[in-house]
Order: sequence, then C-alpha cells, then structure tokens
Amino acid sequence: ESTLGAAAAQSGRYFGVAIAANRLSDSTYASIANREFNSVTAENEMKIDATEPQRGQFNFQNADRIYNWAVQNGKEVRGHTLAWHSQQPGWMQNLSGSALRQAMIDHINGVMAHYKGKIAQWDVVNEAFADGSSGARRDSNLERSGSDWIEVAFRTARAADPSAKLCYNDYNVENWTWAKTQAMYRMVKDFKQRGVPIDCVGFQSHFNSGSPYNSNFRTTLQEFAALGVDVAITELDIQGASPTTYAAVVNDCLAVSRCLGVTVWGVRDMDSWRSEHTPLLFNNDGSKKQAYNAVLNALNAG
Ligand code: G3I
Repeated sequence: ESTLGAAAAQSGRYFGVAIAANRLSDSTYASIANREFNSVTAENEMKIDATEPQRGQFNFQNADRIYNWAVQNGKEVRGHTLAWHSQQPGWMQNLSGSALRQAMIDHINGVMAHYKGKIAQWDVVNEAFADGSSGARRDSNLERSGSDWIEVAFRTARAADPSAKLCYNDYNVENWTWAKTQAMYRMVKDFKQRGVPIDCVGFQSHFNSGSPYNSNFRTTLQEFAALGVDVAITELDIQGASPTTYAAVVNDCLAVSRCLGVTVWGVRDMDSWRSEHTPLLFNNDGSKKQAYNAVLNALNAG
C-alpha cells in the first residue's frame, strides 16, 4: 500500500493524526492529512476549555469542524479529552471538592451526549500520574476532589456512551521500568479486578532526549494488553524523527494484537507543538521525510 492509513489497515489497525481546526484551510496540510491518515484526533478542540468555556454552555464549533471533516473523508475519530488537570476553563479552575466533582460529571455527560455513538475511543482521563520516581498521582484540583475521581469519570463515561472505547491516556509511561508506568499498570489492574469500565490505555509517546524510546516499550504494551485492555499509541512524535526509532515504535504496535493503531501528533514539522524538534513525518513543504518511508515500510512488512 502507498499510504500510511491503507498500510495500517492491512492488519486491521489505523494510522491517525492530530488535526488543528484552523489549519484545515491550508490545502497542503489538508491534502496530506486526507491522503495519508484514517483516524483523527482533535489537537485542542475537544478539550474542556474549548467545549465548555462557560459552565453549562457547550461549544462544539471547532470540534465539529474536525469531526465533520474526518467523517466526510471516511476517518474514525478519537476523542481527546474529558477529564484533565490542564486546559480547564477558568470557571473550572476555580472549583474544588464536590462542586468540581459534579462539574466533571456534567462535562463528561455534555460532551459525550453530543458525540454519542460517533467516537471510536475517548480519552476519558488524561495525565493523572506524576512524573519522576514517586509513582504517585499528580496533584491537581481533580485529585484533591478525591482520588476516586478517575473511576467516577470512567463510570460516568460508560453510561453516557456505551459504544465508545474508554481510554486512560498518559506520557512517560512507555518505558516498562519507570515508576510512572508501574503506577498506571497498578491502576488499570485494579480497575479490571473491580469492574471499573476501562477498555484501553493510550501511550502518548512524545519521545525526546529526556524521555527516549526504549525497546522495552513492547513489553509495556504486552503487559497492559495482558490485563485485558486494548492499547494505542496516541500522540507519537520523536525528537529528530529518527527513521529507525519510528519503525521500532510501529513494529512494537504491530507485535501486539491488542494494539489498535498509531496516531502521530501533527502533520508537518511546522504543525508540531514542539516544531524545534522536527519530530514528525512530513517536511514543512509537504514532502515526505525518511521517517515516513520507514513507517510505511514497517506497516507494509507487518
Ligand atoms: O488559540 C490560542 C490563540 O488564540 C492565542 O493567541 C495563542 C497565544 O498563546 O494561544 C493559542 O492557544 C494555544 C493552543 O495550543 C493552540 O495553538 C495555547 O496557548 C497552547 O497552550 C496550546 O498548546 C497545546 C497543548 O496541548 C496545551 O496543553 C498544543 O497545541 C497541543 O499539541 C498539546 O497537546 C498535548 C495533549 O493534549 C496531551 N499530551 C501532551 C500534548 C503536548 O503538550
């Protein structure tokens, strides 16, 4: 196959991309995105500050621009993200305790109702664990509302849209030996044992010099899959875009039957949140980088 999405589809997987609504009018960007990818994640437009800027007043204008573009072009959509410490609107930042808990529940219900039956996977909770060696939860207003906030979010989400796969999503959880990875593993294991509804774990995979790719990523994916959840690579970008590393990540997903697919976090380097790292698969002029060829070859070989 000659595109990433078609090549991934040979093994029943998708190859996705993060889309920014305001770039869809750039024809180079839109044509690459449409040609190469068969899954779409909104880079910012489905986040809490975008979808509920005032309490109880939902706004899906930019989210729907991306959703409609994706569906019109035959792509599935990953929802990102419903409960997160970051990119909260001001009104939510100012809440705590039971008021925040209720606002989180109302937010999940409001957004998931709008997209009911239309989203393949939702990142229900994003980035709830701390970096470093503690293995602790990240401090946030949500965590201070009671550490059961994560399972409340998942139970709310299941009731709101039983057809969506419900994911927990985080970064710096790709290396099996890291405390953050082990903490996330213990949570997912506990959720499965207690029947908290969770279907998938997203590994963001923002690799850089401080958090480099390690070949034990495949072990991580296998260990989580063995708990009875699907896994996905949800925000892949690699500082310097080494073709070897890109191929290794793709091969890790292909090696795990429960790995649903790979999403890269932007189209061209200039579209990246860290463009100075030139971490993506396309040059700014829209041409394919070596990493692109490495990924395509890996998908076609798998
Ligand atoms: O839209 C405003 C614009 O109106 C304003 O003039 C400008 C000035 O700063 O800011 C614009 O908003 C920026 C937005 O991206 C859209 O470009 C925000 O400042 C900026 O903070 C925001 O960054 C996003 C970041 O999440 C925020 O947390 C990145 O685009 C997005 O790639 C990044 O994505 C996250 C994932 O959601 C979760 N995992 C990590 C990943 C990378 O940080």
